[in-house]
Amino acid sequence: MSKKLLILLVTIGVALLFASTGIYAGTAPPDTMHLYEKAFKKHRKGPVAFPHKKHIEEFKLNCGECHHDANHKPLNNLKLTDDVKPCITCHKATKRVRGEKLSKKEKIKKYYEYAMHENCKSCHKAFNKKKTGKVKGPAPTSCRQCHAKKKRKKKK
Ligand code: HEC
Ligand code: HEC
Ligand code: HEC
Ligand code: HEC
Repeated sequence: MSKKLLILLVTIGVALLFASTGIYAGTAPPDTMHLYEKAFKKHRKGPVAFPHKKHIEEFKLNCGECHHDANHKPLNNLKLTDDVKPCITCHKATKRVRGEKLSKKEKIKKYYEYAMHENCKSCHKAFNKKKTGKVKGPAPTSCRQCHAKKKRKKKK
């Protein structure tokens, strides 16, 4: 093996080590998350830019408004460096089943899409209503206010 190649391999190895510990050793998530769940074979909509940090710091929300455990108990004492489970861990389903009869509650429990929409939109609507008397308002409630155009490929 040439010396150059060896140096290259060592460099890659070290870089990978940093990348993996970066993920697993409690790094805070990005301030703005580009939600585009990988479990979908095919997305019908584009990614959603979600200003996570802003919701915590500016909008002063508790972690438990969105994060909960397997018994749906709010997780209010989380830290940004905790190993927080992605929503898809429990709200697993991505593909609709034709002819399925479920209540709204059952859909939210089962489907990732319903869980996300219920979480984001119900709070936004309630917030807007309180603020302006209408469902529309400063917090986004329409598809294109949240979803980017689909063509745009990946998170940036
Ligand atoms: C308040 C923000 C918000 C609004 C408004 C909103 N969505 Fe979403 N939607 C999300 C989030 C967040 C996800 C999860 C995205 C991901 O991780 O892939 C999602 C997921 C989806 C998905 C499943 C993923 C996919 O791409 O197939 C569909 C379909 C969808 N939304 C359609 C809509 C439609 C149609 C509207 C308008 C009627 C709408 N959404 C309005 C936030 C929103
Ligand atoms: C308004 C809703 C909301 C609030 C409030 C909120 N989060 Fe989140 N958080 C999310 C969503 C949505 C995700 C993306 C989860 C996913 O990818 O499925 C996320 C992701 C995370 C992640 C990364 C998980 C991962 O590895 O993907 C951490 C860590 C986290 N949140 C911690 C916190 C902490 C700590 C607080 C309170 C100080 C908090 N969150 C408040 C909605 C929220
Ligand atoms: C560890 C499993 C688990 C994780 C992770 C999880 N959920 Fe849930 N979620 C549940 C359970 C269980 C319920 C209650 C379902 C029922 O009994 O109707 C629930 C209920 C909900 C509801 C309905 C709340 C209501 O008031 O009706 C929403 C919305 C929701 N989850 C959104 C989310 C979002 C957004 C995330 C990620 C930030 C998330 N969940 C992560 C297990 C989980
Ligand atoms: C418990 C309440 C709550 C939940 C849950 C919530 N939001 Fe919000 N969101 C707010 C409030 C409050 C605002 C600020 C409205 C304003 O400008 O005063 C906001 C604003 C926003 C904005 C506009 C940010 C800006 O810079 O003006 C985006 C985008 C957004 N939310 C996305 C989401 C998405 C995506 C989710 C679900 C993953 C979500 N939110 C869940 C309360 C919530």
